[in-house]
Amino acid sequence: MTHPLWIGTSFKMNKTRAESVAYATRLRSALGDGVPGVRAFVIPPATALAEVSAVLDGSPVRTGVQNAHWADGGAWTGELSVPQAADAGARIVEIGHSERRAHFAETDGTVRLKVGAVLRHGLTPLVCCGESAEVFERGGSVGHVLRQAEAAFADLADGLERALIAYEPVWAIGEHGREPRPEEVAPVHEALAAEWGGRVGGILYGGSVSPDNAAGLLGVPGVGGLFVGRAAWEVEGYLRILEAGRRHAGARA
Ligand code: PGA
Repeated sequence: MTHPLWIGTSFKMNKTRAESVAYATRLRSALGDGVPGVRAFVIPPATALAEVSAVLDGSPVRTGVQNAHWADGGAWTGELSVPQAADAGARIVEIGHSERRAHFAETDGTVRLKVGAVLRHGLTPLVCCGESAEVFERGGSVGHVLRQAEAAFADLADGLERALIAYEPVWAIGEHGREPRPEEVAPVHEALAAEWGGRVGGILYGGSVSPDNAAGLLGVPGVGGLFVGRAAWEVEGYLRILEAGRRHAGARA
């Protein structure tokens, strides 16, 4: 069975509620019944999640949250639980993005706890894995990413088929990132597909994705979608990347 391509964006710490709602409103009207062969998703800032989810309710676009705690509630100042995210409309919970691993002490251990909570509540974890430039340069990418994925899902089986993995090389992410050539990310995708392809719902690539390179990255064997930052923060950019997904899915069918 061929999975649909998952193509989504996280706004990171950008956009007001009004800007997020305007984006969602424009996206909904542009997409209509959706993009054949593609599952679209938008992960706004938590402040805008409920309103964006309301705008997209009943549309083919899912919404998500950029992080959530593993506990259902309690004395965890500043945090947001999975049930709270679900209550605000989230169906996807992003976990372990490299910015959170680097700046907010996210570890393989906390990633695993969060994945467990998300699966327990019936949502979709989107687990981000990726190696630093240093690891990439010494040829350690495959081992590093497989270890992160293994740790994220350790001893978890129920609902695993809902989970998504995003391979996001740290050296390719954000404004200081370098756009990868498809062949540079191919070995990790080949390894992830072999190890996890039959167990999870999709394996995405993320890091400097753009309308210009989307088709090439979707063509890498094992890539089952794209997770996009900057290039999708304007609706037009996201629509162009979704169009690349539509073409790719159509050619596969
Ligand atoms: P970028 O971000 O597309 O802006 O490189 C990707 C990400 O952080 O997931």
